Amino acid sequence: MKIIGAYFSPSGGTKRATQLLCGLFGEYETLDLGGRERAARHFDQDELLVLGLPVYAGQIPAVPGLLDGLSGEDTPCVLVAAYGNRHYDDALAQMKDLMGKKGFRCAAAAAVITPHIFAPSLGMGRPDEADEAVLKELARKVQEKLAGENWTEAQVPGNPCPAPKKAIPVPKDRDWDTCLGCAICAKACPTGAMDLSSLLWEDSKCISCMACVSACPTGALGFSAAQLAEKLTANFTARRDIELFTEG
Ligand SMILES: Cc1cc2nc3c(=O)[nH]c(=O)nc-3n(C[C@H](O)[C@H](O)[C@H](O)COP(=O)(O)O)c2cc1C
Ligand code: SF4
Ligand code: SF4
Repeated sequence: MKIIGAYFSPSGGTKRATQLLCGLFGEYETLDLGGRERAARHFDQDELLVLGLPVYAGQIPAVPGLLDGLSGEDTPCVLVAAYGNRHYDDALAQMKDLMGKKGFRCAAAAAVITPHIFAPSLGMGRPDEADEAVLKELARKVQEKLAGENWTEAQVPGNPCPAPKKAIPVPKDRDWDTCLGCAICAKACPTGAMDLSSLLWEDSKCISCMACVSACPTGALGFSAAQLAEKLTANFTARRDIELFTEG
C-alpha cells in the first residue's frame, strides 16, 4: 500500500508529526498543502492518505479551498490534528466530515501535540519519544484494520460543522531595513492576504497562521503575542497525551 502524507503546516509542527507517523508505516510520499496555490492529487483505493492539519481556535484552518484538490475512491485515510497543548475541539470531526465527502474513509485519527507558535513552552519538543511509541501503536492498528475486509470507520469526537470562528488578531510587523523584497512571505501566504508586489497584508484575509513569518529568510517579519502567550501558559501547561481513535 502506497502511503502519502499530506499536510498544511505554516510553522513545521504538523509536517513533523505527519511525517513521523508516515515513517512508522514505511516509505512514503509527501504533499504540501500550503502556499498560495492549492495542491491537487487523486488517491486510489489501494493508497493510504495520512492527512495532517493544525488546529486553529479548535477548528481546522479557515483557508478557502484548503482540501479541494484532494479526492479519493473509498480511499482509507488517517487524520492527524496537530495542536498546541490546549485542545483540538472540533478539528477531527470537521476533517472526517470533509474528507468523507471527498471519497475518503477514516480508518483512524489522532490528536497530536506540537509546539504552540504563540506560546513556545506549550508542546515544546513534541512529538517526543513517548509520543512516537503511541503513534507506532496507531500504525500497527491501522495496518491490522486495513488487512481485514469490511472495516468500519473510526468515530471521532466534536462537531463536524461548527460555526466559523474569527481569527485570533495577532499583530505582525516588518522591518523594512532587513527585508530583501524577495516576496517569499507573500508566496507562502495560503489565503492570498499578502500582496505579491506591495508585500502588505489585508487583515480581513489574514488567519494569523504565521506562514509568512516562518518563511522569511531574514527574520524581517515578526509578531507580538505576549499577552496571548501569558494566558495560554497560565492555563494549558499541563502535559496532554496523544489521543487515538480507531474504533467504529
Ligand atoms: C491562529 C492559531 C490558532 C491556534 N489555536 C489553537 C487551539 O485552539 N488549540 C491549540 O491547542 N493550539 C492552537 N494553536 C497552536 C497550533 O495548533 C500549533 O501551533 C500547531 O502545531 C501549528 O502547526 P504548524 O507548526 O504545523 O504550523 C493555534 C495556532 C494558531 C497559529
Ligand atoms: S520573506 Fe522576509 S525578506 Fe522576503 S520580502 Fe518577505 S519580509 Fe522581506
Ligand atoms: S498574512 Fe496572515 S494568513 Fe498570510 S501567511 Fe501571514 S499570517 Fe498567514
